[in-house]
Amino acid sequence: YSEEEKTEDYLFKIVLIGDSAVGKSNLLARFARDEFYPNSKSTIGVEFQTQKMDINGKEIKAQIWDTAGQERFRAVTSAYYRGAVGALLVYDISRRQTFDSIGRWLNELHTHSDMNVVTILVGNKSDLKEAREVTTAEGKALAEAQGLFFMETSALDSLNVTAAFQTVVKEIY
Ligand code: GTP
Ligand code: MG
Repeated sequence: YSEEEKTEDYLFKIVLIGDSAVGKSNLLARFARDEFYPNSKSTIGVEFQTQKMDINGKEIKAQIWDTAGQERFRAVTSAYYRGAVGALLVYDISRRQTFDSIGRWLNELHTHSDMNVVTILVGNKSDLKEAREVTTAEGKALAEAQGLFFMETSALDSLNVTAAFQTVVKEIY
């Protein structure tokens, strides 16, 4: 087969969801461009990036969608979720309130997309050790109860960022 065919093989839509300021946009920036913004502004509307990944020697394209956690800045919900096969459900380990919101995000995800959407629960900002409000065990337990993958990440330190996206894409594939 030609090179062209090879690159067109797979395109997966993955959505980022979770409360405002948990670090969704920075996880995407770190993953797609290896960048980090210490003072990033809230996302307005919807942005997406397509990232090529190599999974078991196959080239996969992940189209990753990012919108605001805050209702008034968000994209139209149904369009955002339409066709998604993977989701990163993000909270901030230094703000318990963002962990408490996970149930609501899961409800929204399941209302607007297929029940089979591959989902990983992501506890971001693992670098903020002194400010931690949610333990790793709590994150793990919630993920297990809801049948989700789980990982703690740091967009700042580049910890587990690629691994989190890869976990989802590998499972879809
Ligand atoms: P909305 O677009 O409003 O939904 O927010 P968001 O979830 O996209 O958050 P964003 O990526 O804009 O990050 C919010 C703030 O957290 C920014 O000041 C980032 O620099 C900071 N931040 C993101 N990830 C990390 C991280 O892993 N560690 C630390 N310490 N700060 C982070
Ligand atoms: Mg954002």
